[in-house]
Amino acid sequence: MAPHISKVAVIGLGTMGAGIVEVFAKAGHEVYAVDGTPELAERGKGFVTTSLDRAVSKGKLAEDERNATLDRITFTAELADLADADLVLEAVPERMEIKHAIFTALDDIVRADAVLASNTSSLSLTEIAAGTAHPARVVGMHFFNPAPVLALVEVIRTVLVDPEVVDAVRELALNLGKKPVVVGDRAGFVANALLIPYLARAIALYQTGAVSRTDLDNAGRVGIGLPMGPLTLCDLVGLDVVKEVCEVMYDATKRPSDASPSLLKQLVLAGRLGRKTGQGFYDYSADAGADEGESTGGMTTAAAVVGKGEIAELLATSLAQAGVGVTRIADPDADVAGLAGSPLVVLVGDAAEGCASCGGDGAECGCGATESPHDWFTGVAGVLDERSVVLTADEASEFALTGVLPADVAVLPLRLHRPTKGGQVAEFGIPLQATAEQVATVRDTLEAAGFVPIAGPARPGLVVDALLFQHLNDAVAMVDAGYATPEDIDTAMTAGCGYPVGLFAILDELGADVVADGLVEQASLDPSIVPSPLLLEHAAADKPFLAR
Ligand code: CAA
Repeated sequence: MAPHISKVAVIGLGTMGAGIVEVFAKAGHEVYAVDGTPELAERGKGFVTTSLDRAVSKGKLAEDERNATLDRITFTAELADLADADLVLEAVPERMEIKHAIFTALDDIVRADAVLASNTSSLSLTEIAAGTAHPARVVGMHFFNPAPVLALVEVIRTVLVDPEVVDAVRELALNLGKKPVVVGDRAGFVANALLIPYLARAIALYQTGAVSRTDLDNAGRVGIGLPMGPLTLCDLVGLDVVKEVCEVMYDATKRPSDASPSLLKQLVLAGRLGRKTGQGFYDYSADAGADEGESTGGMTTAAAVVGKGEIAELLATSLAQAGVGVTRIADPDADVAGLAGSPLVVLVGDAAEGCASCGGDGAECGCGATESPHDWFTGVAGVLDERSVVLTADEASEFALTGVLPADVAVLPLRLHRPTKGGQVAEFGIPLQATAEQVATVRDTLEAAGFVPIAGPARPGLVVDALLFQHLNDAVAMVDAGYATPEDIDTAMTAGCGYPVGLFAILDELGADVVADGLVEQASLDPSIVPSPLLLEHAAADKPFLAR
């Protein structure tokens, strides 16, 4: 018979456990909230009370509801109190021996039909279940941090579990107002298997020293449009948890990008676990100084914007509004001799449909459209020397300059990303020729023009697409492996990680061909990047992943 779940218990009152207690109690369940000692139970009560008080002060919870919620919770350090619980969920540290010891102790306490649930984010649920006397009643119930806010609950089934138990837990999650996704027992389940490698790649990039933590966070938050940047999110999740999931993922996949970056290991060893210890990638202590400032070069006073189309217009207008003296050249026949010595020259090639020179399909000027060098840009290049910093806003303009400019001229690839809630990213790559002063000037100029600047090595994908495209590819590979559907993955990432839209919605908007081509370019630097076969098939068939 399907278990009826009314009275619940949560063991372990850290960040996750306390949040889960709050979720159950708010939904009307009687809850035992358990920790190892009376002091820890009292600390847990403090977490829950503080959170409820915050909700009251924000006007989101009435005072009497707050009191009624607290009245439904019994804080205790005694497992023996849990004899009448219908479900016991553990949220204790991620060590198999602790989980087994708790479930073994519960075997002698709870009823034979009570459900034993684990909030594990990194251990094998099958191994947890197999170590108990009644594996058929053991199930995963994985919440996301902050549990009171995020709607996803991954319900993990094993080959040992009674399907009625899975159904009952799914139903329970629905009654809590959550969005359950039922999945099999695989490293990282759905959300962590996608999120944590993305976070690990960001940390790996940060530890090279080539990208600042502010730029990395802006790449995730503003560039991709996620609720938080990757390093800030690591600090929220806890660096110990991120590292544990990395290790489990690496164990399962042996992909270099899943391995725990050495900086992550060092921070965990140093006890800098993020917000919960007051320090992680950022310092949360009251006396923490301001964030690292990027070096300032002072914005440029003059710039030339050469090219057609919306991006050229946007750049020219934004720079002019920032007080830069802009020379705008939108006519391929215009005299460009005056650009000699111009401190900043921006070339925009293929933003307009077709060729930058003829504006069409190449038939008119015989340029062979966007992939050919353009007379227009090579003409511009002919008057430039090392006094100018050249920004190329797309591949067509980069291509047009190849081999044309003297080797000591700094040519910086520039990419404007679509605006998101946090603003519009203008990211640029730093070639070896660029001096620190030039980089700082470009950064300050883009910032003054209203963009969120991001700087990193001048390599395929720069920062934003290097993070995003591999994240998308991981999601496609998960579908290809038959573990989850695109719809389930989008639910997991929106409901579990607060993504404004799912990964497949982003992928369909960008186009599978664009992402596949980008990954092929990125693979030229890192052979471990392999576009998923399913991605290539969708690219070839020009077929979206989600039904429209
Ligand atoms: N408890 C209760 N409510 C909270 C909260 C908490 N700990 N933290 C934030 N909130 C509430 C705020 O009160 C606020 O509510 P209102 O809008 O009603 O006022 C709302 O959440 C938004 O908070 P803020 O305005 O302070 O800040 P924000 O808009 O930046 O949102 C956030 C904060 C909800 C954390 C959001 O940034 C977010 O969703 N970030 C992504 C978090 C994420 O990815 N979590 C999953 C990590 S992976 C995991 O947890 C699984 C694992 O196993 C590792």
